[in-house]
Amino acid sequence: MNTQILPIDDNSLRLAKQIIESGGVVGFPTETVYGLGANAFDDSAVKRIFEIKGRPNDNPLIVHVHKDYDLSQLVYDVPEYAKLLAKAFLPGPLTMVYKSKGVVSPAVSCGLDTLAVRIPSHSGAQRFLKEVNLPIAAPSANLSKHVSPVTARHVYEDLKGRIEYILDGGKCSGGIESTVLDCTGEVPCVLRSGLVTKEMIAQVVGECDEYVLKDGERVRSPGMKYKHYSPRCETKLFYYEDRFKAFSLCKEKLNQGVKAYLLCDSQTAEQTDIKNVLCLGRTESEIAANLYDKLREGEEIAQLIIGIAPKKQDGVMVGVMNRMSKACK
Ligand code: TXA
Ligand code: MG
Repeated sequence: MNTQILPIDDNSLRLAKQIIESGGVVGFPTETVYGLGANAFDDSAVKRIFEIKGRPNDNPLIVHVHKDYDLSQLVYDVPEYAKLLAKAFLPGPLTMVYKSKGVVSPAVSCGLDTLAVRIPSHSGAQRFLKEVNLPIAAPSANLSKHVSPVTARHVYEDLKGRIEYILDGGKCSGGIESTVLDCTGEVPCVLRSGLVTKEMIAQVVGECDEYVLKDGERVRSPGMKYKHYSPRCETKLFYYEDRFKAFSLCKEKLNQGVKAYLLCDSQTAEQTDIKNVLCLGRTESEIAANLYDKLREGEEIAQLIIGIAPKKQDGVMVGVMNRMSKACK
């Protein structure tokens, strides 16, 4: 199969619609990362997503809809707090988990009685979702375990020969996956941290829990238990406090002829004379937006990536740290 990267226009949207309606899958941009989408009503199309990615079949998918889609077709009981959050943050990088009506393929939620729903803000995503006017089940468009894609080229590198079309909507501005929020309880509960932070949610609705896995407990967001975001080279991660140990290790490896690179923010990079730096930028949003891009650049040029955690550890950095620690362990 020949894989084509297409700019988003009337022609490519028509082609994408044809593929989706005939049970195929399409790569498409969102403001977080690229998705690999299929018609959520079509059982075999949803199963193809799992095959194409090599994804474990107990890791449920998020359903994506356009901003005018009537959610009551898909889920029960949207609580008052969820309506407030939708008003504040949607369309945007917040996925909300509700009780499912069970009308989409059971493969989407891997047998769970809940459904994760997302309304992305990316204009290309909205155009695609509007064109098909179907709920689109979509994980990130990378091979399972690999770094999530933030450009059409990244999707191509992982999935060429496995899908027909990738809609190209430029580099994703957000850079880490959406916040996944359980809205089935009395109080919303963050299952996966992202750009919409727990603090931002609490500010709108008063309180917000965060799910922390206790020993022996069943995971509520199954995706969180898997190896993830891994570049194809050796990696190591240091706390910010240990940055000078990271610099020493990097110099030692460089002296041994190992192609070692630091992965850190600008402020940290300025504290060393090491030139091999995959620099994440200065602000929180730059750091999030560049993380996967730099991990992918790093695996092309480095034998060893030495990550250094950002100094700040709250807000958006919770999500960044979660990805960094999985990528660099
Ligand atoms: O930003 C994003 O969310 C991107 C773009 C493409 O929209 N998608 C994405 O999908 O990150 P994926 O499949 O890589 O991650 C989906 C996450 C997993 O952690 C999964 O366990 C969780 O959402 N999830 C999906 N359905 C769920 C459900 N019913 N209950 C709890 N967690 C769920
Ligand atoms: Mg993923």
